[in-house]
Amino acid sequence: MDLTRTADLWWRNAVVYCLDVETYKDGNGDGHGDFRGLTQQIDHLDRLGVTCLWLMPFFPTPDRDDGYDITDFYNVDPRLGTLGDFVEFVRTAQDRGIRVICDLVVNHVSDQHPWFQQARKGRDAPYRDWFVWCDEPPKDGPTGVVFPDQETSLWEYDEASGQYYLHRFYKHQPDLNVANPAVRDEIARVIGFWMELGMSGFRVDAVPFLLETQGQDDAGLLPDPHDYLADLRAFLSRRNGQAVLLGEVNLPYQDTMRFFGDPDGVGDELNMCFDFIGMQRLYLSLARADAGPLASALRERPVPPRDAQWATFVRNHDELTLDKLTEDERNEVFAAFGPEPDMQLYGRGLRRRLPTMLDGDPARIRMVYSLLFSLPGTPVLFYGEEIGMAEDLRAEGRLAVRTPMQWAPVHAGGFSTGDPSRLPGPIPDGEYGPERVSVSSQRRDRESLLSWMSTLIERYRECPELRWGDYDVLDAGASSVLAYRADAADGTVIAVHNFADSPAEARLALDGLDASWVLTDLLGSDVSTGGTTKVSDGGEVRLRMDRYGSRWLRAERPEAVGGTMAP
Ligand code: GLC
Repeated sequence: MDLTRTADLWWRNAVVYCLDVETYKDGNGDGHGDFRGLTQQIDHLDRLGVTCLWLMPFFPTPDRDDGYDITDFYNVDPRLGTLGDFVEFVRTAQDRGIRVICDLVVNHVSDQHPWFQQARKGRDAPYRDWFVWCDEPPKDGPTGVVFPDQETSLWEYDEASGQYYLHRFYKHQPDLNVANPAVRDEIARVIGFWMELGMSGFRVDAVPFLLETQGQDDAGLLPDPHDYLADLRAFLSRRNGQAVLLGEVNLPYQDTMRFFGDPDGVGDELNMCFDFIGMQRLYLSLARADAGPLASALRERPVPPRDAQWATFVRNHDELTLDKLTEDERNEVFAAFGPEPDMQLYGRGLRRRLPTMLDGDPARIRMVYSLLFSLPGTPVLFYGEEIGMAEDLRAEGRLAVRTPMQWAPVHAGGFSTGDPSRLPGPIPDGEYGPERVSVSSQRRDRESLLSWMSTLIERYRECPELRWGDYDVLDAGASSVLAYRADAADGTVIAVHNFADSPAEARLALDGLDASWVLTDLLGSDVSTGGTTKVSDGGEVRLRMDRYGSRWLRAERPEAVGGTMAP
């Protein structure tokens, strides 16, 4: 596999790591995470093997939606530092070879944003048409509130001007009107501004809602929302050919595919879309100890255009949404991983992190991350996953999974030297508190989850076949086992995972291989086989799988072993 390709299309082989500056590391002791603190921690990310950081919103905000409610697109929230601190951080990350992308939240603004403050002064006020107004909510307008615990409608009546405004999310987040060319120009300026300051792209928030103009009076001004997305991408690429758009599109596969654009070409809209369907089926597979649901998602999942890629993830900063499962399936996952009402959110998700859902079983947790790094797609980690942090249900709503990063078994987990009452969230105690779960203690322990993550990341980077090759889900001969192979021109990698609490045997038929091949374990060797497994004349192999076992295997001809990328 020609490694030069992996450099040009860097996002297809990236390790993306999402963090919130506010909860990562406090550099000045005031209780808040900030850019100076984050910058000092860059070597943790470098050692782990992260190649791209995704910063959650760090812009000025009243913070009623954890920063997803912005009052100024061209600045840094003063609690987190200054533009100067931001630039120093980006420069330091780049020095370590780490690219940085940030959230682009332009579906809406905070109702405190000066644009909206102006707009609501009257029907002829400046910026009025930057938002979406109506006298009566349209019958053919969009439906479905995103936060059903707080909102009952997408339209809020504005007393002062006697009209309703659209808000897809909270009522304090009025939607911008992208049908208005002035708004589109401003969004381009926002993109251009942060690119000048070194951003390599954006995680685009709520893409389907951003493009939605259904039921709006001026919808006709926006010829085709997908043309607009393609325009944005073209603008981005003109400014920097390596920049990417990673989109939040939680829709069925076929609908999500449209957001890559240009299905028969290289893709001219989003470079990457999160695989929400695969993620949800993963949890169903875990709940059932049956590889079937995830296997069927992988088989159904369309192949993106040539240069585009799915982004895979286990957890993110939001609730673990299960909205694309059937009600019965969702209830199965709730029963297995979040039976208490307090663990559930919006009737569709769980406000928990992985380790607690899996009762802290190290083998099972490792298996899930082994899947993440071997499944076709670009893996995206959420901060704290590398050390197995847990949620803290004392925090409200989705904030339960956004507690401060745990650096060391010391005051406030080493996150801050400040007054504990000023921290952005509780520090979990007990089994998952910093006394037991922290970066510094796991760094010294070769058996730790952190060491496992580093190994997985190393192997992942060494196996570009997994991203570039054609992949096939194999029949593993055991319902608990998921096996797939990725074939590139000069290499085949096979990944096998056991979802069951008991050992299993996988029997694979490997077309194209025969007794002149062996399979070499890439994650550590099975002592009984000396690290290699023989393939039969007919291309069959039998693999012993431990309970929750994970194996990555490279097909090699014994005379060539050592000549390839096998570690
Ligand atoms: C996205 C974000 C979520 C936020 C919402 C509104 O879904 O992931 O955290 O609340 O957009 O901006």
